[in-house]
Order: sequence, then C-alpha cells, then structure tokens
Amino acid sequence: MHIIESVAEMQTFSRESRTDGKTIAFVPTMGFLHEGHASLMHEGRRRGDILVLSIFVNPAQFGPTEDYDAYPRDLARDRQVAASAGVDVIFAPKASDMYPRGFQTFVNVEELTLPLCGASRPGHFRGVTTVVAKLFNIVMPHVALFGTKDYQQLAVIRRMVADLNMDLAIVGMPIVREADGLAMSSRNAYLGPEERENALCLSRALAAARSLFRDGERSVATLREKVLHIIGEVPGATIDYADFRDSDTLEPIETANGQTLIALAVRIGTTRLIDNCILEEEQ
Ligand code: PAJ
Repeated sequence: MHIIESVAEMQTFSRESRTDGKTIAFVPTMGFLHEGHASLMHEGRRRGDILVLSIFVNPAQFGPTEDYDAYPRDLARDRQVAASAGVDVIFAPKASDMYPRGFQTFVNVEELTLPLCGASRPGHFRGVTTVVAKLFNIVMPHVALFGTKDYQQLAVIRRMVADLNMDLAIVGMPIVREADGLAMSSRNAYLGPEERENALCLSRALAAARSLFRDGERSVATLREKVLHIIGEVPGATIDYADFRDSDTLEPIETANGQTLIALAVRIGTTRLIDNCILEEEQ
C-alpha cells in the first residue's frame, strides 16, 4: 500500500494506471475509519483494479463554529484498516496543497443543498462538492463510492456529476450500524457512555416510524409526531431536523409512501448525529 501526499504525484499515479488499462475505484473519506468506511472499500475493491482511499479533513466543509480542529484523526490506525480492506493507495493531501494561496473556485449545487443539512450548515455542501470535484480531478476514478448514511450528500454528488458531465460512476452503499442500531460515524467517538445510550433514539425513532407505516399509517404529521416524541423523551437530545421527504427530489411531502425518506439530525449533548431511512427499503 502506498501513501501519497502530493497532488501531482497522485495525478501521475492515476494517469499511468489509466494508461495501463487499469480501472480506478475511489473512496473519499475524512479518516478515523470505521466499518461504514470499510464497507465502501470492500465494494471498491470488487469494482476496480486499483483502489484509492482519500483521507482529508476538508476545512472548506466546516463552518467557523464547527468541529474542524476537534475532528478525530488517527492516521496510524487508518493505515491498518485500509491495508486490511485491500486499499492500494491512501491519498492524504495537506490542506495547504488542496487550498493554496489564491484559491477561489467553488462548485455549488443549488436547490438540493437548500434543505436539511444545507439549511443547518450553511456553506457545508459547497465545501463538500468543491473538494469532491477536486478529488475526482486528482484521482481520476472510474467509480467512486459513497454511503447513504449521508443521504443528501450522495444526492448532491450525483447531481454534480450529472450536471457537470463528470465521466465516472457513483455507487451508493447502505448504512452500516453498530449491533444496537446506532449508525456508525467518526463523530460517535465524541459520545460519553450515557450519550452513547441516548444516541440510540435516532435509530429507534426511525424504526418506530417504519413500523407505524407498515401498520398502514400514511399521514406524515402522525409519523413525525411519533419520531418527535421518541427523541423528545431523551435527556440532552435536541432535534436539528426530523423531515419526511421524497427520496429523489428531497421535496417535503405530507402523505408517506414506500419511497419516503425520513432524515434526522439530532444533537446529543454537543455532538450532532445524522441518520435516515427509506420507509419501505430493507434495512
Ligand atoms: P466521512 O464522514 O469520512 O465519510 C466518508 C464516506 O463514508 C461517506 O460516503 C459516508 O457516507 C460514508 N459513511 C460514513 N458512515 C457510514 C456508515 N455508517 N455506513 C455507510 N457509509 C458510511 O462524508 C465525508 O467523509 C466527506 O463529506 C467527504 C465525502 C469525504 C468529502 O470531504
């Protein structure tokens, strides 16, 4: 496994791999890898001759009061996880190489970034699409893998790739959860033992809404009430949003159907967690 820090070196490696007729699969991450990331790497291993993993905590997607400095980092451990998932190259650039002095070009997807995380984290998706577009230009992958854990992010990236005619395939992968249902996230590391327990309210609320839906409930108002009630009971849990939306357009809806997305962002203490499900999809 190679570790490449330099943008130019990564581009040379990818250009040569392509010239040799190799397909490149790519998993972009911010590191502090867990099994959710590993599931993307395993699928990438299957889909490409060369598997590239990027680890870059992207300053452009954090707001001024967010956790950029505190974001957990552990490159030594990430190397082991990556090696055992069959990664060929870790691309770990420095922020000063990705955003050198004079940098002033951003990619912005418009409507899709307005609701949900876009509303509560202004500028976040502009940072995500900009860095992902840059990473695609540097790594030149044939296929890139993303998790549906960040449902809106995946939708925004698919939109960017289609709108800008980027020549690669985007693959979405299911949410990987802990045994008790908590969606895996690098930010789970922030949770104390009691908060870790309280954090289960997100997956519990999703499961309860799904179960009501299975029993025939179609009113979003009623389903939403259930979700709010379950989260509202938990001390220290503050809802950022709990929205029912069309899973394609992300538009709000009033009557639920099998393709309805429930998207949650909840603060447990100071840790902001997200989770989601589509009502009728296998979990
Ligand atoms: P990060 O949060 O490190 O996530 C990297 C990828 O792993 C994303 O595609 C995310 O959806 C996926 N992922 C995270 N937790 C998951 C889980 N429990 N199950 C399945 N997949 C999961 O998302 C980012 O980084 C950044 O915004 C990035 C795209 C790298 C741009 O900076």
